[in-house]
Amino acid sequence: MSSELMFIGTVLTALVACHSVICSAAKDVSFDENYAVINGYDQVKFLNQEKSELQLSLDRNSGAGFGSKVKYGSGFFQISLKLPPNDSAGVVTTFYLHSGTDSHDELDMEFLGNREGKPIVLQTNVFANGVGNREQKITLWFDPTANYHTYRILWNPHQIVFFVDHIPIRVYKNNTGIGVGYPTQPMQVLASVWDGDDWATDGGKLKVDWSHAPFTAKYKGFKVYGCGSTTNVVEGCFSLNSTTYWWNRMKFWKLEGVYEKYYQNVMKKHITYNYCTDKIRYPVPPPECSTNV
Ligand SMILES: *[C@@H]1O[C@H](CO)[C@@H](O)[C@H](O)[C@H]1NC(C)=O
Ligand SMILES: *[C@@H]1O[C@H](CO)[C@@H](O)[C@H](O)[C@H]1NC(C)=O
Ligand SMILES: *[C@@H]1O[C@H](CO)[C@@H](O)[C@H](O)[C@H]1NC(C)=O
Repeated sequence: MSSELMFIGTVLTALVACHSVICSAAKDVSFDENYAVINGYDQVKFLNQEKSELQLSLDRNSGAGFGSKVKYGSGFFQISLKLPPNDSAGVVTTFYLHSGTDSHDELDMEFLGNREGKPIVLQTNVFANGVGNREQKITLWFDPTANYHTYRILWNPHQIVFFVDHIPIRVYKNNTGIGVGYPTQPMQVLASVWDGDDWATDGGKLKVDWSHAPFTAKYKGFKVYGCGSTTNVVEGCFSLNSTTYWWNRMKFWKLEGVYEKYYQNVMKKHITYNYCTDKIRYPVPPPECSTNV
C-alpha cells in the first residue's frame, strides 16, 4: 500500500473518533442569517431558494465577496467550498477572518489557483496587531474543484488551528508568554474570489487566462459557531468555562491523539512552504516556530 493510501486509511478509521463539529459538514442555514454580500453584487448568485448555497464569480471586470454581519471574538469558524474548476492560475479564492482595524488581526485561508492539472495551493497566514509574514503553503490530497470540502478555523485563548475537513493543517499557539503576537480583536468572517495574478501563482509569473472566465467558486454551510461581538471589544468571548463557547473548552486547547498524528502527516507530506524554515527571510526563525506543536 502506498503511504498516501495508508494515510487515507488512517483518516477513515479515525472518523469514528471525530468530534461532531470537526467531522460533520458545515450546517445548511440561509446565507442571510449570518452574512451579507460586500462587493461584486452582479457576480453573486444564489443557487437555491433557501439561499443555502451561493456562487461567487470573477471576470475581467470584477471579483466578489461576502462577510459576516457581526464580528466574533472566538469560535470554530467554517465554510464549505468548491473551488473554480479548470485553469484557474492567478485566481485567489478565500475564507478568512479580519478585524478591519489599523493594527489588524487576520487569519487567512487563501486558495491559489493553478494551470489545469497543476495543484492548487492552500496558503495560510496569521496576523496579530498588524504583523503577519507567517505564510505556510500546502497542497491538498484531493481535487478541491471536484467537490465541496469544509475549511475551518478554530480560535480560542490557547490556539488557532486551521483544518481541511477534519485534518488539522496548521497550529498557531498562544505564545504571548514569549512575546509572540496573538489575535485578540473581534474579527469579521469573510470570503471572496479575486484576481491575484501579480503574486499568487508561481510568485506572479502565471497570469489569469481570461478565456476561461468567469471563474466561479461555490460556498455553503453558512452557520457560524462564534462568540458574536457587536462592539469592538471581546466581552467574555475568551471565557474558558462557558458552555456556550464550547470551542474554548480544554478539549480544544491542544491537538490530541489522532489529530496530532494527522497534523504531523500534513507537515511531513503536504507542506510546500513554511516561513519557519525560510532561512533567507528569517536567518533566525521567529520564536513561535519552535513551540507551535
Ligand atoms: C472544465 O473541465 C471539465 C472537465 O474536464 C469540462 O467538462 C469543462 O467543459 C471545462 N470547463 C471550462 C470552462 O473550460
Ligand atoms: C494568551 O495567553 C495569555 C497567557 O496565558 C493570556 O493571558 C491571554 O489572555 C491569552 N490570549 C487570549 C487572546 O486569550
Ligand atoms: C472555571 O472553573 C474552575 C473550576 O470549575 C474555576 O476554578 C475557575 O476559576 C473558572 N474560571 C473562570 C474563568 O470562570
